[in-house]
Amino acid sequence: MLDPKRIAVFASGTGSNFTAIFNQIIDGKINGVIKILISDNSSAKAIEFAKANNINYKVIDKDIIRDSKLHGEFLIEILKIAKIDLIVLAGYLKMIPSNVISRYKNKIINIHPSLLPKFGGKGFYGMKVHRAVIDSKESFAGASVHFVDEVYDNGPIVMQEKIKVLDSDTPESISRKVLEVEHRILPYIVKKICLNEIIFENNLPVIIGDYK
Ligand code: GRF
Repeated sequence: MLDPKRIAVFASGTGSNFTAIFNQIIDGKINGVIKILISDNSSAKAIEFAKANNINYKVIDKDIIRDSKLHGEFLIEILKIAKIDLIVLAGYLKMIPSNVISRYKNKIINIHPSLLPKFGGKGFYGMKVHRAVIDSKESFAGASVHFVDEVYDNGPIVMQEKIKVLDSDTPESISRKVLEVEHRILPYIVKKICLNEIIFENNLPVIIGDYK
């Protein structure tokens, strides 16, 4: 039996993806444990959830540590103390400092509410993504889980799931449907990482085994 992976979740807002992962851990579907929640927003709902469920949390206000290197060193210290194996960015709006990315290479994943590389990068977050999907008359919307590198929404994609855009869809309806997709694919990838069932071949992630 593998030791449960020690997970840090980073979230800036509602935290529904954080909750989805937590619930699957509680249900015994993910061999992991969320050791800490990190947020840049002291009024994030994710923090309320962490408090209610006795999950350790830290708020790192970007206005206090403006220097990216120092910010990174501070984060690394926290992550080292918590002996973190996996970092999950679940709606985290702040750029991860490059020293954290190199220290945790191939150990940071992000969920993005579009079919990357479409509608990714700086400025594409929240409803802006879904509005852009509607405005550009895309046939499909969806979500992507990818490993994180130093460029926003750029690292290697490990999983995507698409949904058909209907004529009746609005940015709001797309957002709801994409969030359902997110709550499926993000916990699934966390589960696979916790089983050591995602490996890297030629610097690209490969999922071992079937989708179940
Ligand atoms: C999600 O749409 C995710 O794709 C994006 O931020 C949103 C976070 O939602 N990165 P929640 O806070 O998990 O509800």
